[in-house]
Amino acid sequence: MAELSDRTRRNAGDAYQLDRSAGRLQVLEHHARDPMVKVQSLTFRYPNGATVFEGFDWHVERGQVWAVIGSSGCGKTTLLMLLAGLLRPSAGQVWVDNKPLSRPRPRTGLILQDYGLLPWATVWRNAALGLDIRAFYGPDGIHAPADENLEDRDERVAYWLKRLGINHLAQRYPHQISGGQRQRTAIARTLALRPDLLLMDEPFGALDAPTRQDLQQLTLQLCQEQNLTAVIVTHNIEEALYVGQHVLVLGQPPQRTARVVQSPRTSTVDWEETRRSSEMQRLVEELTDLIGDEGHEMA
Ligand SMILES: Nc1ncnc2c1ncn2[C@@H]1O[C@H](COP(=O)(O)OP(=O)(O)OP(=O)(O)O)[C@@H](O)[C@H]1O
Ligand SMILES: [Mg+2]
Repeated sequence: MAELSDRTRRNAGDAYQLDRSAGRLQVLEHHARDPMVKVQSLTFRYPNGATVFEGFDWHVERGQVWAVIGSSGCGKTTLLMLLAGLLRPSAGQVWVDNKPLSRPRPRTGLILQDYGLLPWATVWRNAALGLDIRAFYGPDGIHAPADENLEDRDERVAYWLKRLGINHLAQRYPHQISGGQRQRTAIARTLALRPDLLLMDEPFGALDAPTRQDLQQLTLQLCQEQNLTAVIVTHNIEEALYVGQHVLVLGQPPQRTARVVQSPRTSTVDWEETRRSSEMQRLVEELTDLIGDEGHEMA
């Protein structure tokens, strides 16, 4: 156990605990380099259902954007629910931000397949919903982060509606806006909660190609800007390679090993160029083989 100077104590990312008996600070762990998500020997089966994961290990470093791909029924949504703390492992453990996950955590943002908008609420109220719920419970560390300050609630909603380009639709209802605009509303609602981990289940699946591209780009830009760690589920191979720096490929369940493919996308090379490259063709073929034909639907 080491005596620590103030400067050492302020080092970003280290976790400290005051050892009261010794009156000294003890370095518990250096979690700056620890993964944001750690899935350890995960086994999961639905009651009376098939085993979806068995002894599965996987981790996601802080700030990484991952795509998860696999055919229908392979366990993509189940994995997101486990990462969100909405399902509990049958065995093994999921860690998020160095803590074993025992319930949903307020800093995890989850966007479900159908966006989860309330049909009777306006775009504004839908975008404000998460903050309203936090205001209802107060900063209890369970429903809202313990350091949450909601005084700027309206400004936060206004900022995110503007940032997502839907501020002019604030008084409309979900049935009066397009699918892409609904998805933007769901993203605004989630980002207004200032998550550090973003989980998205097929966020662009129901959109036409240009809208889809716009939102893929915007999502990547926001992840970078907000320094988010993100896990994005998709059925689409090209989308996986575009949005994910790393792609987790799930085969037929049960999932026992994490098969990972690195995307050829870089910030310096134009995506159109990458798309046409022979490496990309090879990767698409490799991914098609790994997941079966169902996953092969190019945008
Ligand atoms: N509540 C449940 N009870 C029992 N089995 C379930 C339940 N939910 C999902 N399953 C089963 O678990 C497996 C994985 O389902 P999951 O929803 O995670 O698949 P998915 O990869 O998200 O599929 P899709 O691409 O169609 O959304 C499937 O075989 C499914 O039938
Ligand atoms: Mg699913």
